[in-house]
Amino acid sequence: MTEQSRTLAPQDVRTVACVGAGVIGGGWVAHFLARGYRVVAWDPAPGAERALRDLVSAAWPSLARLGLAEGAATANLTVAPTLAEAVAGADFVQESAPERLELKVSLLAEIDAAAPPHVVVASSTSGYPMTRMQVEASTPGRLVVGHPFNPPYLVPLVEVVGGERTERWAVEWASDFYRAAGKSVITMDRELPGFIANRIQEAAWREALHMVANDEATVEQIDLAMTDGPGLRWAFFGPCLTFHLAGGEGGMAHMLDHFGPALKYPWTRLASPELTAELRDAMVAGTDEVVSGRSNTELIAQRDRRMIAVMRALAEVAAEEAAERSEART
Ligand SMILES: NC(=O)c1ccc[n+]([C@@H]2O[C@H](COP(=O)([O-])OP(=O)(O)OC[C@H]3O[C@@H](n4cnc5c(N)ncnc54)[C@H](O)[C@@H]3O)[C@@H](O)[C@H]2O)c1
Repeated sequence: MTEQSRTLAPQDVRTVACVGAGVIGGGWVAHFLARGYRVVAWDPAPGAERALRDLVSAAWPSLARLGLAEGAATANLTVAPTLAEAVAGADFVQESAPERLELKVSLLAEIDAAAPPHVVVASSTSGYPMTRMQVEASTPGRLVVGHPFNPPYLVPLVEVVGGERTERWAVEWASDFYRAAGKSVITMDRELPGFIANRIQEAAWREALHMVANDEATVEQIDLAMTDGPGLRWAFFGPCLTFHLAGGEGGMAHMLDHFGPALKYPWTRLASPELTAELRDAMVAGTDEVVSGRSNTELIAQRDRRMIAVMRALAEVAAEEAAERSEART
């Protein structure tokens, strides 16, 4: 029997191990608990268990508002005393340790040595290719990237991609598993530094930094420009469909013919700006002004509430449209 043939069907997973339980790992824990899984977490930092349980408690009301899976409970969380114990009984492992390549390489090798050999292991890395992280693992075929967005308990997207030594079944299995766990999945056929969404996000971020560095816009203006402008559209139509509509009846073709030459205008710089001490300080001071005394806990609660409002509104519209379609058929 091959190792792969002993792998559970994605929809039969019951226990997930989360290795590293900071912002992202803790967010994954909250997500998996809300979807009814048993979760075993491990994090070497002193006080990590308290911080994790606080994160889960803070997220739980939002998750309850969105709807919990049957049997979902915070009591299904166990914190293991060692990495080996955390992964030994897992059906799937999600690694969310700090973004340092040498740490990822050794930690993934350690997880690989301790987890049952047929279990898929995913890394939350924001941009390292799995090819560079799987070099010390003895069964690299089951290692994939499962890149989430913050907070993983609300943002649906996960980008899944393997490395050169990852076997195809593991990429497909992870994609199916995340879907079964309520995620929206992009399965990528090839490794791309930063994956897809971070490349788009990074382009906007670089331009924002350039504008602050050159005194062209303030932090407040940049954030307002996005939330009250393109950001509102991007929650439901991406940049391509948005620009298709900008082309009027002629759609994308007209839009490209009409505005194509504008691509040559110096509207963006794209190359990253030098992160000087001045720029760093200007970003921090400008952000402090926008934050205007709100604590992180307050900001997270505000963010989650607003994100849920958008998600609910979109779900309501989708339900109305489905009802209208079925009415039109009858
Ligand atoms: N923050 C984001 O917006 C974001 C988004 C997507 C992906 N990610 C990725 O998620 C991963 C975690 O990022 P984060 O923002 O949660 O960082 P974080 O600093 O909040 O959390 C990292 C956690 O890992 C723990 N840790 C340290 N050494 C460890 C080890 N050897 N083994 C296991 N755990 C260890 C730390 O104690 C900490 O709790 C990174 O790979 C990051 O690139 C972050």
